[in-house]
Amino acid sequence: MASHRNSPPLTIITQLLSISFFLLLHSPSPATAVPATNNDAPSSLVNKVCQKTTLCSYNDCVAALALDPKSSSATDAKALAKIALKLAVSNSTSSEKYIDEMAKNEGSSPGLKSALEYCVLQYQSVVLLSFRSALNEVDDDPLTANYDAKFASDGAYYCGEKLKSGGFQSHDVDSIRTRNNYVTIYSDIGFAVTNMIS
Ligand SMILES: *[C@@H]1O[C@H](CO)[C@@H](O)[C@H](O)[C@H]1NC(C)=O
Repeated sequence: MASHRNSPPLTIITQLLSISFFLLLHSPSPATAVPATNNDAPSSLVNKVCQKTTLCSYNDCVAALALDPKSSSATDAKALAKIALKLAVSNSTSSEKYIDEMAKNEGSSPGLKSALEYCVLQYQSVVLLSFRSALNEVDDDPLTANYDAKFASDGAYYCGEKLKSGGFQSHDVDSIRTRNNYVTIYSDIGFAVTNMIS
């Protein structure tokens, strides 16, 4: 549509606008030029789960689940819960490594280092432990899985509080806050999806 920019008559503009609006309403990703494949549209189960999340937005939920293409073909809550919690574990593992590297960075001040070490501990002992437990509990004890998925985000919360109290420069800690937010997203999704296991 970018090629129609050389002052087209008003009617064409109006038509283009209504076509764009139509695409906006009917396509899950209007910015993409390729035709929608199966993986672009959230499945009805993903849709249902993402309408139930409370801390993360619908779009963040759909995007987070789409990181594993198997999400769109999962037909029951149990299967989708396992996919979501595996994503939660791998995502948080990579964040834990990231924070650990930053803690070991020579350039980090002693105060920042100790806050980051605290965060690493929270990721290991709360976030990862809870997501892993939840994943193992999906089959036999969905209620405990539900509780553990929720509890995982406490580790990210306490990490965030520690960073807040240290009065650090935002450029030092913004990337950690982003990762804490990923934990919240997966915790929220994990909670919503395990809640739907009957
Ligand atoms: C972690 O999850 C977030 C939120 O879905 C995503 O934006 C990010 O790319 C993921 N990172 C990794 C390493 O999987």
